[in-house]
This record gives sequence, C-alpha cells and structure tokens, in this order.
Amino acid sequence: MKGRRADIHFHLLPGVDDGAANLEESVELARLAEADGTGVIVATPHVSAQYVTDVSDLPDRVAEVRARLRLEGVDVDVRCGGELRHDMVGRLGQSDLDTIAGGYGAEAERHALWLVGAGVVTCLASDAHPGWRGPGLGVGLEKASWALTRARARILTDSAPRALLEHGTPIVAPAA
Ligand SMILES: [Fe+2]
Repeated sequence: MKGRRADIHFHLLPGVDDGAANLEESVELARLAEADGTGVIVATPHVSAQYVTDVSDLPDRVAEVRARLRLEGVDVDVRCGGELRHDMVGRLGQSDLDTIAGGYGAEAERHALWLVGAGVVTCLASDAHPGWRGPGLGVGLEKASWALTRARARILTDSAPRALLEHGTPIVAPAA
C-alpha cells in the first residue's frame, strides 16, 4: 500500500449513515477509489444523533468491510474514523474535493481554490457517498494544480493525508 493515496473522509461503511447502503455498495465505491489510485480509505461515518451514536462497534464493521474487500480482490486498506459535526471539531484544514471541483457552485470553487493557493488547506479528501459523490483524489489533484504547482498540489492529495494517518501531523503546503 506504500506510496498510494489515502482518502481520509469517506462514507464507506454499509448501513450506518447516508453512505453505502450495503456491502456491495461499499465494494463498488472502494473499487472506484482503487482505480483512481487510492490505497487507504478512512471510513468516516457521520457521528451524530441522526446516524451513529455508539461508535464501539465501528472497528468490527471496518473489519467486516476489510475482509470483504480482500475476498473481492480490491487492494484498498480500510481504517476506522468518524465524521464529527463542525461544531464538535474543526476540519483540520481538510477540504472536500467537491468544493474545489465546483460541486457547490463557482463561488465556492473560487473560494476553495483561493484557500488552496493561500496554503490554508492541508489535505484533500473526497467525502465519497455512493450515487452522488464519487471517490477520486485524481480530480482534486487536477484542480489544486490550478492554484499551486503540481508538486505542491500533490502534497495535498498524496503525502499530507498519508502523513496525517501515520504521524498525526499534517504537512502544510506552502503558498504557490
Ligand atoms: Fe462526510
């Protein structure tokens, strides 16, 4: 898995929130991520009154998905995480790909790219949900390359998310 991208915001777990509805959808989504060059997915279900309130069974659910992916030949590792509400925890400078890809409109895209260019964003993640928001750090790399040099953009999609997983400290991409 070394040298491959980590997507640290991803609704992969089946049947716990508005992400994958079942294991088949989890496999399908992970397969798309693998095809895009992602080697590690952090499963981040919504932890809120509306969805997951008891996180104690999340490791077992992650293990179940991991085993299924192995069975299906999908070479993606899965780690356990959670998406806390914004008022519970900050976003650590992580930006969703959909914002810089224009999914929230041109104005949001401009603002997001400005933040990327200003060096405020430390890493990119997909916030993937089946059916309406795909995985794919590749598109993030393309868009971030508009605001930064290619090498600096690559930090946001490649080395920074991996470093966050391995060391807990994001690498800040300097402004272009
Ligand atoms: Fe999310």
